[in-house]
Amino acid sequence: MTQHITLREVGLRDGLQIVKTIVPTAAKMEWIRAEYAAGVQEIEVCSFVPPKLIPQFADSAELVNRSLSIQGLTVSALVPNMKGAQRGVELGVHKLNYVMSVSEGHNLANVRRTVAESLDDFRNIAAMLRDVPGDQRPLLSGGLSTSFGCTIEGLVSEDRVLELAELLVQAGADEIVLADTVGHGGPHAVRRLFDRVLASVGKVPVIAHFHDTRGLGLANAAAALDAGVRHFDATLAGLGGCPHAPGATGNVVIEDLAYLCETMGYSTGIDITRLVAVRQILARELPNEKLSGAIAIAGLPRRIPQVTAVA
Ligand code: COA
Ligand code: ZN
Repeated sequence: MTQHITLREVGLRDGLQIVKTIVPTAAKMEWIRAEYAAGVQEIEVCSFVPPKLIPQFADSAELVNRSLSIQGLTVSALVPNMKGAQRGVELGVHKLNYVMSVSEGHNLANVRRTVAESLDDFRNIAAMLRDVPGDQRPLLSGGLSTSFGCTIEGLVSEDRVLELAELLVQAGADEIVLADTVGHGGPHAVRRLFDRVLASVGKVPVIAHFHDTRGLGLANAAAALDAGVRHFDATLAGLGGCPHAPGATGNVVIEDLAYLCETMGYSTGIDITRLVAVRQILARELPNEKLSGAIAIAGLPRRIPQVTAVA
């Protein structure tokens, strides 16, 4: 049976957080609806951060509300702390994507706390969620930024990533995200780290979040697929970056990643042609942003050659 790969659109958060042009809520909704219609089942629609810090997310409440009306869509949002998590619970999101960094320097720059403080906050959020009635309780994702390297500290210890992933799962994470926030990873590092993390905490989904900063995004995704990763973050047209990672423009392009999955014999449930068409919304709303991606230029082959892994 064909194995399914879940691709989560994170462009409305990871992409828009560095875009200065404020995209109107109606256009964000058009983007969300069009991607869902193309087969994307989960969308990270915003961040619960102070609007003063990132004005792009000032419409979070309305956006979440309207997204929740789309039957079948998993609506998630990034939260950097307890306040964000409480807001997510109030608004009824399906999943809270908690984020902290593996490296101290990046964590301090991004969320103004030490890694130990972020870990404590995660434990408190997990405890807070245990008191929320089951049918209203969002899933809790534990995201680890800078898992493959850091612009501030350089190398990041694989052992430390593994340790933090284990601590997050012990604390109650329903899934783990390993993020190559600044594009330092390569396929061998990806294979080795995911092998170790899946072996240790693979009872929960482990998601790969790659940036294409140095052109290795898809190579890294292929290595993660070979390691057994079945969930990925990506963005339409590769929109994205990180405010604290200079030059880190561009997540993995979701249309190209869907194509990669198909060629490797996996199904994504995504209609790639329809997904590519959604780029028109971005082109219209963000005329000054670079839209990346190869499939949008070359088109799909008449028939996608699907070759499953060699046993
Ligand atoms: N949502 C909305 N408001 C929030 C908030 C949240 N999640 N967390 C804190 N605030 C408010 C506080 O209520 C306080 O408001 P006040 O000044 O009116 O009293 C103010 O923000 C400062 O609160 P504090 O707890 O001191 O936060 P901080 O200034 O130390 O900032 C973070 C900490 C985590 C909120 C901030 O660094 C942040 O949002 N970081 C995320 C950045 C990001 O999105 N990076 C990219 C994603 S990887
Ligand atoms: Zn990212």
